[in-house]
Amino acid sequence: MKIGVFDSGIGGLTVVKSLLEHQLFEEIVYYGDTARVPYGSKDKNTIIRYGIEAVEMFKNFELDMIVVACNTASAYALNDMNATASCPVIGVVEAGVLACANVLEDKNANILVLGTKATVRSKAYENGLKSLQFNNVNSLATPLFVPIVEEELGESEILDVTMKHYFKDVTSPDALILGCTHFPIIERQLQNHFGQNTKLIHSGDAIVEYLNQKFDLSEKYPEPKLQFFASDNPEALRQIAHKWLGL
Ligand code: DGL
Repeated sequence: MKIGVFDSGIGGLTVVKSLLEHQLFEEIVYYGDTARVPYGSKDKNTIIRYGIEAVEMFKNFELDMIVVACNTASAYALNDMNATASCPVIGVVEAGVLACANVLEDKNANILVLGTKATVRSKAYENGLKSLQFNNVNSLATPLFVPIVEEELGESEILDVTMKHYFKDVTSPDALILGCTHFPIIERQLQNHFGQNTKLIHSGDAIVEYLNQKFDLSEKYPEPKLQFFASDNPEALRQIAHKWLGL
């Protein structure tokens, strides 16, 4: 199995990390659109166009499937990407919705989705969860977490102040959806802030669960071939990939 993983930038490496931990694929081709990140501040048509262009880029490889690790692109561009691709294109939003539903028994559970402005505006998580009868869903755009992660300021006061700013009126939810690729990097800090009773939903784990349900991925690949591409400064992306993935 050969898979393409797409993200607006480096954040999708958190999804690659989960795929590697579970040894699901023989070959992973990662593409980060680093020249045009962030997608979270763009409008729908732009995000769709970028998503289609990513599929075109992946046509250089004979892929069995494409995972859209970017929540923003998953929220807007999945249908158009599927229409353009010759293999299945799977997004993290649907996987995250199902993973959230799996950990909650109570349909009145209080769910909070954190994401980019575009993801929050799309209501993709709310609509998915509402279709599963979860009606107590709130979303909050927390885009400043993206540069904080990219600048490796996860252990800094800047993150503390930003969390205080965003969460000043927020009570701890039963489930917190990390609806942005970067947020798993500050998972521990978010868990500490909201407390251990809040269940965190991580796109990487969610997609692994989803892929295992939908496809026969019983074969394991402990030493997959990895390739990293970026639309700008691919060397910087490769360096972060080595660091985050411990390669
Ligand atoms: N990758 C994006 C996401 O998961 C976050 C960064 C961006 O705004 O492009 O929504």
